[in-house]
Amino acid sequence: MSVLVISPGRDPEPWVEALKKEYPGINVYAYPEEHDPEEIEYAISWKHPRGIFKHYPNLKVIASMGAGVDHIICDPEIPKNVVITRIIDDQLSVDISDFVLALVLDHIRNISFHHNLHAWESIQYKRIEEEQIGIMGLGIMGSAVAQSLLKNRFNVSGWSRTPKELPGVNTFCGEKQLEKFLNKSTILICLLPLTPETENILNKEFFKKLPKGAYIINVARGQHLVEHDLLEMIDKGHLSGASLDVFRIEPLPQEHPFWDYPKIKITPHIASITNPHKVVHQLIDNYRRMKEGTELKNTIERKLGY
Ligand code: GLV
Repeated sequence: MSVLVISPGRDPEPWVEALKKEYPGINVYAYPEEHDPEEIEYAISWKHPRGIFKHYPNLKVIASMGAGVDHIICDPEIPKNVVITRIIDDQLSVDISDFVLALVLDHIRNISFHHNLHAWESIQYKRIEEEQIGIMGLGIMGSAVAQSLLKNRFNVSGWSRTPKELPGVNTFCGEKQLEKFLNKSTILICLLPLTPETENILNKEFFKKLPKGAYIINVARGQHLVEHDLLEMIDKGHLSGASLDVFRIEPLPQEHPFWDYPKIKITPHIASITNPHKVVHQLIDNYRRMKEGTELKNTIERKLGY
């Protein structure tokens, strides 16, 4: 019984090292290292080559290296009996909250704007209390971001697919309440899971429902955003700009028009990055559970997509 770490584009070595430290004697392969697919029962994965898992007849579990599982679920060839898990980790929630807070403050106090101006000119800024933050997605990450912004005196509302209650947050749910939620949001933060329902949700019709001058922050997935709709709405002056950490193609190609938009701030998918040493305990706990045949933790519902 062996484990496969499969993460093309992400160094597997820190994961292998953390697994061996936590569970001495564990048999781990780092893809594409030579291994017998029949031996693998547990895979730890980030953006695996599509279709590869059908060659692993004894695979029982695929653990995502991160909070999101869209990169696993998008592969239709993963057998139905394979359990999929995600990472739930306090440090990821804190990191994403800090990152979003930094982006919001940078936007409202025009810090990058002034930096790029290279001139001694000041422009009017809005105060924290004047902004209405709208968070889309009130799962673990969305709730943590909401709490952090509330602590920093922001007005926060949130939207989710199903009703949620969060202390201090004005919550909305479902298609019916989306417009009401958007009408008020001067800063819109996308923290939705990527599912067929949420793909392309950040589009022109959606942006039109936001107040003029609204600002977009996407720290979820690039596929949530219709890129040319964002550019059009910025060009028309309806949106004041955007901070994007995630993209349809990563790394973002050098020739992509986003690079030439001063009103778009680009970061290279760094909002929260899993520390293998911090989460190895939950991965090994699930590995043991799989061996014992008991229920795994942090499993996702494939039908829902998260
Ligand atoms: C990052 O994008 C993650 O899913 O953890």
